[in-house]
Amino acid sequence: MKYTIAIDGYSACGKSTLAKAMAKRLGYRFIDTGAMYRMITLYFLREKIDITDECAVAGALNGLRVDFVPGSNEALLNEENVETEIRGRAVSEMVSPVATISAVRRWIVPQQREMGKEGGIVMDGRDIGTVVFPDADLKIFVTASMEVRTERRLQEMKDKGIPATREQVAENLVTRDHIDSTREDSPLRQAEDAIVLDNSHLSLEEFIEAGMVLVRGIPG
Ligand code: DC
Repeated sequence: MKYTIAIDGYSACGKSTLAKAMAKRLGYRFIDTGAMYRMITLYFLREKIDITDECAVAGALNGLRVDFVPGSNEALLNEENVETEIRGRAVSEMVSPVATISAVRRWIVPQQREMGKEGGIVMDGRDIGTVVFPDADLKIFVTASMEVRTERRLQEMKDKGIPATREQVAENLVTRDHIDSTREDSPLRQAEDAIVLDNSHLSLEEFIEAGMVLVRGIPG
């Protein structure tokens, strides 16, 4: 049996880390849907698309292909590896407004469903358990304290050589949480049948193991 596993939560909670590790242990495909919204945002920024102009947005989506490098899961925008660029400040500041656009969501969600149609997938994002795969075999809602999230995102950016201060990172997280959870189309919320995993006080290994315990508990 190849399960569909949906992982949702706020920015920088460790969703992708958990999803990637669980997919590896299970031999499943891992999909970071945030990276897809980030690729769209990067394209809009490069093409100087006015995101309030519906025609411009629809036209831009026509010229766009988002994918992942097989094996490494790095972001591929129209065949170009943009993994580093989509994690930078310009994209991080613009991605939540872009993700509020219904035309963007209507364009990307079917592609996500297609990727997961055969199961054997761990997908992380904001609306996976509520919209993309409402019938997922397992839904996990990941949380962590604001301090932990800020520290982690800061470290992640340092590791990638992307300059940012703690204040900038914290401010960006607060702003994105607000936009993501208050938008009209597919707001971030915990699905009723999701299980909450708070990793503020867990080591990486304990966190991953907690996820794997939930997989083993899926009713056969
Ligand atoms: O997980 P992330 O920080 O890379 O996500 C970037 C943004 O994309 C986030 O602010 C909200 C949006 N997003 C979304 O609206 N729905 C998803 N399934 C995944 C991400």
